[in-house]
Amino acid sequence: MELNGSRVLVTGASGGIGDALVGQLCTAGAQVLAVGRDADKLAAAQGRFPHALRALAADLATPAGVDAVAAAARDFGGVDCVVQAAGLNRFGLVEQQDDEAIAAQVALNLVAPMLLTRRLLPLLRERPRALLLFVGSTFGAIGYPGFAPYSATKFGLRGFAEALRRELADGPVRVLYLAPRATRTAMNAGAVVEMNRALGVAMDPPAQVAAAIVQALRDESPERHLGWPERFFARLNRLLPRVVDRALRGQLATIQRFAHSEPEENRP
Ligand SMILES: NC(=O)c1ccc[n+]([C@@H]2O[C@H](COP(=O)([O-])OP(=O)(O)OC[C@H]3O[C@@H](n4cnc5c(N)ncnc54)[C@H](OP(=O)(O)O)[C@@H]3O)[C@@H](O)[C@H]2O)c1
Repeated sequence: MELNGSRVLVTGASGGIGDALVGQLCTAGAQVLAVGRDADKLAAAQGRFPHALRALAADLATPAGVDAVAAAARDFGGVDCVVQAAGLNRFGLVEQQDDEAIAAQVALNLVAPMLLTRRLLPLLRERPRALLLFVGSTFGAIGYPGFAPYSATKFGLRGFAEALRRELADGPVRVLYLAPRATRTAMNAGAVVEMNRALGVAMDPPAQVAAAIVQALRDESPERHLGWPERFFARLNRLLPRVVDRALRGQLATIQRFAHSEPEENRP
């Protein structure tokens, strides 16, 4: 899709990847409706792009927040593209995560994108062509110890995107899914950064992930997984999951050690 002159709704716009994405979209000539919760961060982005960006603070974990975003999209004059990047990740063994933490990840990463999509589809169908891009994760293709609820939500999101792509195949709305690998944003607690270093897991800068999202929108690429060897392991996990089981068994003691090292105040 040509982004110059297009109207793009971005959730998670106040986050590391979202903020970089909003900047790149505005620079490419798009009009952006930026959704997050942190009004100060959104106002800072608006200050950088006063003519291209409209900001909305909304909590997508609530039905009222989802409704507010849909109403803002209508006021915006409709949208050609929607990028759903809002997300929440808690690092910890399942027994360390309380009910609220698990429910919050499911609500934001899985339920909210489905509810928002349902509300936005009538608007998107008004366009001759429209794009819905879901930001997934490598952990939506590889269930990873220490991230079980998060992995479950991203597997679910990938399934939703795949089914919806097939459901909408005869209409104007194209459904895209892009899975970043580990990225240097506030989403990753200190222990995760340390663990990634110990395990030799690369972390991408958010601007690089944002650029990949922009490219996926331009190419209308249905599914893209970022990073090597992550892309290889995602494929291997589908074909030969026992091989990946063995590889991750070798990492388990390190993952457990870092999960137990996370200070109590950072725990969910
Ligand atoms: N960072 C990684 O390693 C990584 C790897 C793979 C995939 N991803 C995915 O990439 C996407 C962006 O992540 P990021 O790294 O940019 O994370 P981030 O910096 O933590 O940003 C998360 C974004 O989600 C928003 N958000 C959180 N709770 C919300 C709620 N209840 N309602 C509305 N918005 C809410 C935040 O808004 P406020 O800050 O304003 O509350 C923020 O804009 C996520 O979907 C994530 O799962 C990230």
